[in-house]
Amino acid sequence: MARRNQRIEIRESLEVLSRALAADLADQIAESVAAREICSLALSGGNTPQTLHRILAGEFREQIPWDKIHFFWGDERYVPLDDEQSNFLMAKKTLFRFLEIDDSQIHPVPTQLKTSADAARRYEEEIRKFFGESGPTLDIVLLGLGGDGHTASLFPGNPVLKEQSRLVAPVCHSPKPPPDRITFTYPLINRTRRIHFLVSGAGKAEAVRRCLENEPDIKQTPAAGIAPRSGELVWWLDDEAAKYLLV
Ligand code: 6PG
Repeated sequence: MARRNQRIEIRESLEVLSRALAADLADQIAESVAAREICSLALSGGNTPQTLHRILAGEFREQIPWDKIHFFWGDERYVPLDDEQSNFLMAKKTLFRFLEIDDSQIHPVPTQLKTSADAARRYEEEIRKFFGESGPTLDIVLLGLGGDGHTASLFPGNPVLKEQSRLVAPVCHSPKPPPDRITFTYPLINRTRRIHFLVSGAGKAEAVRRCLENEPDIKQTPAAGIAPRSGELVWWLDDEAAKYLLV
């Protein structure tokens, strides 16, 4: 089902898919820097993006102006930044450690604060301050997809799905451990210039199908609520994740 401003890219493997996404990101980063001197990019967590990180820091290292990119996270676990479950630590190990990126360009979620609500509030303040008068519009948001249809830390049936004013919110009782998280909300994600879902494996195929069907049930499949207001949405799928789409 072709939606406005939506593109579907299918490749045979996560490796080939990640390389194609890396090339698209390199082009988009160059466009953002040419237009606005910097590029704002939100990373996602979990396992899938690690192949992409390796490729970006490897064969794409020289093609990307790393000193012009500001890194955020679309969601983060409410754990210390040196905890093995931290999305920040995953990015540090799989991407940043291979690159010379100044700390001023890296904007981790302040999970050292007393509560996840405090961390979400402070992160929203930081994002609003960073973008200033132009409004919180990121150039790029990378998203993963859970088999249950979640994305970032927007989980089925969670009250955060109804959030229409806050840009960042705490999430408690996440079905995917750890339970306490901080997440971008739909209002922030859907302002983005280009949103990329990177999805691999047969375990995600049903969730992909539900996201791309006509009139999806967003409460049950939160990733279907990702719909950029004026930007573009790109689905990067390997053959297994796309198996219900290959007709
Ligand atoms: C997180 C992620 C989450 C992830 C999906 C897919 O913090 O866990 O942001 O939304 O992207 O659960 O995870 P995998 O890539 O590990 O399958």
